[in-house]
Amino acid sequence: MKKLLIVANWKMNPERLTQAKLLFNSVKQGIKKIRNTHPNRNQRFSNRVEVVICPPFVYLSALKANGAQDCFWENKGAYTGEISPLMLKDIGVKYVLIGHSERRARGETFEMINKKIKAVLKVGLKPILCIDKLSQIPKDIQGNYILAYEPVFAIGTGKPCSVERSKKMRKNADNNFVLYGGSVNSQNAKDYIEKAGFQGLLIGGASLNSKEFLRIIKNVAI
Ligand code: PGA
Repeated sequence: MKKLLIVANWKMNPERLTQAKLLFNSVKQGIKKIRNTHPNRNQRFSNRVEVVICPPFVYLSALKANGAQDCFWENKGAYTGEISPLMLKDIGVKYVLIGHSERRARGETFEMINKKIKAVLKVGLKPILCIDKLSQIPKDIQGNYILAYEPVFAIGTGKPCSVERSKKMRKNADNNFVLYGGSVNSQNAKDYIEKAGFQGLLIGGASLNSKEFLRIIKNVAI
């Protein structure tokens, strides 16, 4: 079995680096604790779960985090304000969210998304492509990318997609590696994995509360 991927999308939070460090460290410590509380758990945990934290760009280096929330499609040049896949790779990032609906709502097009996935794959990072319809899966991508099914009505609303509905979508996505995202919490997390068949979760709001985020990790890992 492939490892489950638990991805935290902090969005534009928290407001200060000191708060980001506190949150990051308490998640890190908590994961250590989950791994160490049972003699067999350490092995089981490492075999079963990988945790990815995607903070805002400005915190990435200080935290040595492994996930980013976006990137540009060129590796360098006159692109004021953009961050390149190569830059992310150079500071230790492994996963990059692409095409989050909050970015699409603010003007990101599928053409831009397509270029970004290709650029991310080219430097050897793993793109996590956020979609809310199967028709949004690009057809011409060479390489492995992860999908995150995030129905827009469920994002940040506290109204998660029903397990039945998400399960249908999961089935139709065939062999892809698919995460579920949208109002995930410690109560519903396990159902998306065990009942709906997703390979992981993309978590926004609940990832900003270390206790709740750790409960989710514990629930799906053990
Ligand atoms: P939410 O966000 O967990 O706060 O609904 C998920 C996301 O936007 O990735």
